[in-house]
Amino acid sequence: MKKADLIVGIQWGDEGKGKIVDMLAQDFDAVVRYQGGHNAGHTIVVEGKKMSLHLIPSGVLNKKAINVIANGVVVAPYKLLEELKQFEDRLKGRLFISDKAHLIFSFLEEIDKAKERLRGKNAIGTTGRGIGPAYSNKVDRVGFRVGELRDKEKLFKRIKEYFANNSAIFEALEIKAPDDEALKNELATYEEVLTPYITETTKLLWDMLDSGKRVLLEGAQGTLLDIDHGTYPFVTSSNTTSSGASAGSGISVKSIGKITGIAKAYCTRVGNGPFPTEDFGDDGQKLRDNGHEYGTTTGRPRRCGWFDAVACKHAVRLNGCDVLSLMKLDVLDGFDEIKICSKYKYKGEEIDYMPSSMEEVEPVYETLKGWSGPIGVREFEKLPQSAKEYIKRIEELVNCKVEIISTSPDRDDTIIR
Ligand code: GDP
Ligand code: IMO
Ligand code: MG
Repeated sequence: MKKADLIVGIQWGDEGKGKIVDMLAQDFDAVVRYQGGHNAGHTIVVEGKKMSLHLIPSGVLNKKAINVIANGVVVAPYKLLEELKQFEDRLKGRLFISDKAHLIFSFLEEIDKAKERLRGKNAIGTTGRGIGPAYSNKVDRVGFRVGELRDKEKLFKRIKEYFANNSAIFEALEIKAPDDEALKNELATYEEVLTPYITETTKLLWDMLDSGKRVLLEGAQGTLLDIDHGTYPFVTSSNTTSSGASAGSGISVKSIGKITGIAKAYCTRVGNGPFPTEDFGDDGQKLRDNGHEYGTTTGRPRRCGWFDAVACKHAVRLNGCDVLSLMKLDVLDGFDEIKICSKYKYKGEEIDYMPSSMEEVEPVYETLKGWSGPIGVREFEKLPQSAKEYIKRIEELVNCKVEIISTSPDRDDTIIR
């Protein structure tokens, strides 16, 4: 039996997972999203043409591979319809959606946004996509599942019941119940368009692995946004670390093979919460400008700062990374000096792990020499010496080999060692 390989975000998301999944997908038979929803924004660039994906797995440009939205994902059917449009009928027979995945409706987005407004200055800075409310309902055992789209009358009744049971909350949040006719029409469209894609994906994936097919699991978000291990409460509502892949797909932990962590050569974060190496000065602005650090999903400017080797080492251990892929090295072109956070100062001591509360840590930096020219090369040997030394120091500090180095958004500008 084959094992499935796994791609996982190491930082606060947007590391460049989409690019690497698209590139690797050429050698796989299936690409699987297993958690998160359309809070994700995964960008693929092939020969200068850009595509942003939110729910459909990033393997979609590889015509050989099937695409699976597995049980751990929260699926907004209206977003899926919108994304499917760009592929016309080309995904028929190539996209499979788990009947066990949970659904997001627009009223869950409204709850998400209303709760953020009520939090005021303590807002999490969510994407406002209804992710938290959908996962809350799942855990509360009152969620709506994708399989229910097959029977629109029954689902209509369930939604009406949900509004009746939660009327006090909806009134307090000033959220109106959907109009009956509009809701019936919406559900009829979903039933008609999406039913052909809905199936039991766990068995589908087992059968693929049993017959020696190659499966790639595509994580969304990043380790530091994990509901258990991230900077709680400033996190997303799923397990973004590798362990989430097993629960979110039905592929047992024993059947997961190579784990590749995706990390930027510096750090970014969208939304609120601790970010020890955040740079509020010129360096942070230069990283934002060079790296075009504006969100794929919400367009918000991303907070920027130096590479955090402490958080990366912690993430390597949490995920069990075999190798790392270091992204956006080109963004560091033209810095005279490059800093790496190699330790944290915490309660008067120097530590090399993430404590449970990240509010109080201060970064301790090492300074390395930068490089001037553009590093648009495709061979490791041709990188500037100081870039090679930067990579080597990261490997030492985080205890993991950097196997892939990315030097532009394009699929082909990638060094594999
Ligand atoms: P994801 O959410 O992890 O898939 O990452 P996003 O797509 O949200 O953000 C990564 C951004 O960086 C995208 O715009 C990519 O096209 C871009 N990108 C990926 N790799 C590189 C790289 O090596 N260099 C540069 N300059 N941009 C990159
Ligand atoms: P990809 O897959 C970066 C962040 C939000 C917010 C927090 C909670 O593209 O890397 P949520 O809407 O999930 O309840 O928001 O998580 N966040 C992301 N940040 N990349 C993402 O996905 C993200 N998905 C959620 O900004 O801070
Ligand atoms: Mg993204």
